[in-house]
Amino acid sequence: MRVGVPTEIKRHEYRVGLTPTAVREYRVSGHEVIVQKGAGGGIGADDAEYVRAGARIVDTADEIFATADMVVKVKEPQPSEWIKLREEQILFTYLHLAPDPEQTKGLLNSGCTAVAYETVADENGGLPLLAPMSEVAGRLSIEAAATAMKRCNGGRGLLLGGVPGVKPARVTILGGGIVGTHAARMAVGLGAEVTILDRSIPRLRQLDELFSGRARTLFSTAESLESEVLDSDVVIGAVLVPGASAPRLVTREMLKAMRRGAVLVDVAIDQGGCFETSRATSHDEPTYEVDGIVHYCVANMPGAVPLTSSYALNNATLPVGLALAAGGIEAILGNRLLRSGLNIHKGRLTCSPVAESLNLPFLPPEQALAA
Ligand SMILES: NC(=O)c1ccc[n+]([C@@H]2O[C@H](COP(=O)([O-])OP(=O)(O)OC[C@H]3O[C@@H](n4cnc5c(N)ncnc54)[C@H](O)[C@@H]3O)[C@@H](O)[C@H]2O)c1
Repeated sequence: MRVGVPTEIKRHEYRVGLTPTAVREYRVSGHEVIVQKGAGGGIGADDAEYVRAGARIVDTADEIFATADMVVKVKEPQPSEWIKLREEQILFTYLHLAPDPEQTKGLLNSGCTAVAYETVADENGGLPLLAPMSEVAGRLSIEAAATAMKRCNGGRGLLLGGVPGVKPARVTILGGGIVGTHAARMAVGLGAEVTILDRSIPRLRQLDELFSGRARTLFSTAESLESEVLDSDVVIGAVLVPGASAPRLVTREMLKAMRRGAVLVDVAIDQGGCFETSRATSHDEPTYEVDGIVHYCVANMPGAVPLTSSYALNNATLPVGLALAAGGIEAILGNRLLRSGLNIHKGRLTCSPVAESLNLPFLPPEQALAA
């Protein structure tokens, strides 16, 4: 199969669909790989590195879309890319179609077969192609908090770990899933005083074992949450209720009783945010203040570290992408990961939550692929 990697064109997107390491794996498996000139620039991988990995460099995205059997990207295709996609062509990337009727229409009209990273589900319902970005965002959330906590950035002027003789900052993490766990690891590593709240007792047990007393765990109730938040220097929002908007756990009223210059990092902003006062921000201007509390609400946090993020993403996407490249569209039905990832096939919507959100007709993957 010919696999094509265009340069990402979304603003501030520096990641790349295939790293040189992944290109080499595709080549070893017998596939041809074409990469758009400069596609790896954002991760410091130049064209020569791609050529060494076995890719052929092409000048334009047009050549990729016109000749590749499978296009591998990171972000959802932009309008100028929808029109280049073709029937019989496979698109493998993040799509996030549920809130995006325009893109959905564009992909349906193209006739392509689109497998979305974010809906690829394993046998336990886990989302293996989303997990690496949660790991990155969780770790980054503490770096973001440390920066925002500096006085010159509006924060209280606290060093997260303190110094001998001066107490460290109190970090409260709402949600002890992937983001929350990785945030806690960073905060504990820096010497902060860390508390993790979650509503899942099994998860709290795992966290208790994992941190061996270096982070406190608390069952999340309205009362425990409010008392921890009011006593915090940093609050990380990392909750997720699958398929739903994030619950608004920290109200505007609570901000008034918090310490001036405390920092809220809402990682769950991509699901609407778990603080009442959250609104999505970008890497250009990541923070703003409400009632003297600094808010960091960047919706695509992993984009800040494209090198780490691209490699972490490729580690997760590689086996799934290789299975898709090996078997083509015919492989989708027999492969649970690919089947759950199939969102669109030849003008039909095959992902029921997306169809429900957009009020569009849904056809199960089995029927769409058989048609
Ligand atoms: N901003 C970004 O760039 C970025 C990047 C990656 C992930 N995210 C988002 O971060 C959020 C967390 O992702 P994740 O992978 O850690 O999810 P996860 O499912 O692994 O963890 C979520 C945790 O929240 C807990 N939870 C649910 N309701 C709760 C409540 N009321 N109180 C306390 N805990 C509660 C769940 O029990 C679970 O343990 C998601 O919204 C995800 O989309 C954002």
